[in-house]
Amino acid sequence: MKLRTKLVIVYITIMILTTISTTIAVHTFGPQKATEFQQLYLVVVFVTTGLLIYWIYRTISVPLAKLQKAARNIKEGNLDFEINIDGEDEIGQLCQDFEAMRIRLKANAEEKVAFDRENKELISNISHDLKTPITTIKGYVEGIMDGVADTPEKMDRYIKTIYNKANEMDLLINELTLYSKIDTNRIPYNFATISAKEYFQDCADDLYMELEAKGVEFTYRNLMDDDCKVIVDPEQLRRVINNIVSNSLKYMDKPQGKITMDLKDVGDFVQIELGDNGKGIASKDLPYIFDRFYRTDASRNSSKGGSGIGLSIVKKIVEEHGGNIWATSEEGAGTTMYFVIRKYQEVPIDE
Ligand SMILES: Nc1ncnc2c1ncn2[C@@H]1O[C@H](COP(=O)(O)OP(=O)(O)OP(=O)(O)O)[C@@H](O)[C@H]1O
Ligand SMILES: [Mg+2]
Repeated sequence: MKLRTKLVIVYITIMILTTISTTIAVHTFGPQKATEFQQLYLVVVFVTTGLLIYWIYRTISVPLAKLQKAARNIKEGNLDFEINIDGEDEIGQLCQDFEAMRIRLKANAEEKVAFDRENKELISNISHDLKTPITTIKGYVEGIMDGVADTPEKMDRYIKTIYNKANEMDLLINELTLYSKIDTNRIPYNFATISAKEYFQDCADDLYMELEAKGVEFTYRNLMDDDCKVIVDPEQLRRVINNIVSNSLKYMDKPQGKITMDLKDVGDFVQIELGDNGKGIASKDLPYIFDRFYRTDASRNSSKGGSGIGLSIVKKIVEEHGGNIWATSEEGAGTTMYFVIRKYQEVPIDE
């Protein structure tokens, strides 16, 4: 009921009461007894007015107290409460507007927290991935300085790897610059339809060059049709492969390291398998290795362990490609990472 209606009710009630009482008094008792009746009437008016005023007071004071408490909560930054007032009057509507404002403020605050978290995550992901090419460049430059690249061919390979790694860094830094310029912190994927064979062959060539210099045996097998196409962001997919291979190198415990890359056709998807003969992952750890900051006990206790974010980056990128990633491993024997990327299907155009 509207506040105005309530006040009108109060006014009419008092007026009606007065009119009726006066009429009854005069008609029934006559002028003499009217005074007695007037006293009774005054008592009734006092009580009724008192009750009516209390009714109006409750209507205003209860929601007002709730609003005051709510305002104090908001002032202190606490938005996890609810204002439960269903009244149809002006105060009830004010409470409903207040509740809508609280919900809006809470959503904004949560959005900001999520935005800040994603922003931090993104910067730490890029810094993480910048470390790998920097380490490689340092290694190759040291190799050149120490005279390891003693033939023109070797020198050529070293310089090519340094160049490729510098390019990777360049792309990552460009990405970082882009993030700081745009408001959203989603990775701006540049998807392109490319030949799976050509793309993965290029990756394999780079890996071969890089791993050979590290004394690691690398085998690449392509079991796909030559004309198969995939829709990928070539740079982001390189980050996936680099992260997986850098883990294989980091957790390698055999004198002769072996890394394999196989490309398979699995219906609508292309499956990429990256295997190593490293120390492997215990089955109790396997379900968690893609979680951010998760590191197995073995890597936590060794100086080689990183921050545990490499595979979470990998998972995120593969999923943004509409794919999926998983791993199998045997302790002491090695690990294989599998991920699938959807094939590009040409839609036949009906004439
Ligand atoms: N090829 C592998 N062989 C053995 N263990 C692995 C392999 N790949 C991943 N792991 C285990 O999975 C954990 C998570 O890997 P992830 O790449 O996310 O983190 P990280 O390598 O420890 O640190 P970061 O990549 O941030 O430097 C590692 O700590 C390691 O224990
Ligand atoms: Mg890693």
